Amino acid sequence: MEFDLQPTGTPVDAETRAGVLANPAFGRVFTDHMVSAQWTRERGWFDACLTPYAPLTLDPASVVLHYAQEVFEGLKAYLQPDGGIAMFRPDRNAARMVRSCARLALPPFPEDAFVAACELLVRTDRDWVPDGEGTSLYLRPFMYADEVGLGVRPSDSARFLLIASPAGNYFSGPLRPVSLWLSQEYVRAAPGGTGAAKTGGNYASSLVAQQEAIDNGCDQVVFLDAVEHRWLEELGGMNVFLVQDDRTLLTPPLGGTILEGVTRDSVITLARELGYTVEERPVDVDEWRKGATDGSVVEAFACGTAAVITPIGALRWPGGEAVAGDGQPGAVTTELRTALLDIQYGRRPDTHGWLHKVV
Ligand code: COI
Repeated sequence: MEFDLQPTGTPVDAETRAGVLANPAFGRVFTDHMVSAQWTRERGWFDACLTPYAPLTLDPASVVLHYAQEVFEGLKAYLQPDGGIAMFRPDRNAARMVRSCARLALPPFPEDAFVAACELLVRTDRDWVPDGEGTSLYLRPFMYADEVGLGVRPSDSARFLLIASPAGNYFSGPLRPVSLWLSQEYVRAAPGGTGAAKTGGNYASSLVAQQEAIDNGCDQVVFLDAVEHRWLEELGGMNVFLVQDDRTLLTPPLGGTILEGVTRDSVITLARELGYTVEERPVDVDEWRKGATDGSVVEAFACGTAAVITPIGALRWPGGEAVAGDGQPGAVTTELRTALLDIQYGRRPDTHGWLHKVV
């Protein structure tokens, strides 16, 4: 796919940009450019281009606005010690987007074009990559159905877009253990549903539970399975791990209802290399509750592209609370977080070929 280049004539001035980069939050400010491409059933993909970042014009009857036919991705680019920039495992996001598209009856965006689009945007907006500890350029590729019409059927046209935003911690402020609210009433995904796809609808349906978490003083919601309401699934927007007896990591298995997190996969690989046993198996929420009390569950953490590896402090539910360990970032969580970040920032050998150099 060839991208037509139409760069902006009015980039954000250096002083304003420096102000943003000095303290990037998450997903608040966007870079000067975006990449887009159009698809129709007759023509396939066309009009691939890099243009100034700008609002979209959408017909009010666009399919996505009514039936949520949409998918998205999230990945990051990191400043390297030599001043270059590298993306982390973009091929995995490209492949997952193809799978999400298949589930949402959207056209696959070619994986090589996905990576090329990311490279192009990072190269063009390289001055937007922040250099502070824990910061990166967050890339958000997404696709939506833009056919005009109210009939409920797969759209005959779609648009791919890629935007970028300098990012610091997903949770505001310095790194701290987050608290979770165990949703009693709501589930995120059921067998046969869209739980493994990265589609906006999964997040939309999590929001009422997320609001409940906030109302109960928690940072994130955690969902149980839809059938028995017993097995851990994932948080509102990230995967979950427990650390048992110091050397064993537990995490819910992939199986259609949870997201195949790229960070989840990286954590499993790194943990095994560091000598931990990783069990991908159904995890009963009572293992967490009882384990926190009897001392067998010593740590818990959340992971995702945005969240990186974030320690979990308290797990709360109506009238109860379980805190693994002392509720502070544990040694295992910290070791894994350091190992992952060191690879991402080029401070530790990238033995898996996870870094994709852009410049
Ligand atoms: C990511 O981690 O990239 C996600 O897409 C999750 C979202 C909560 C920001």
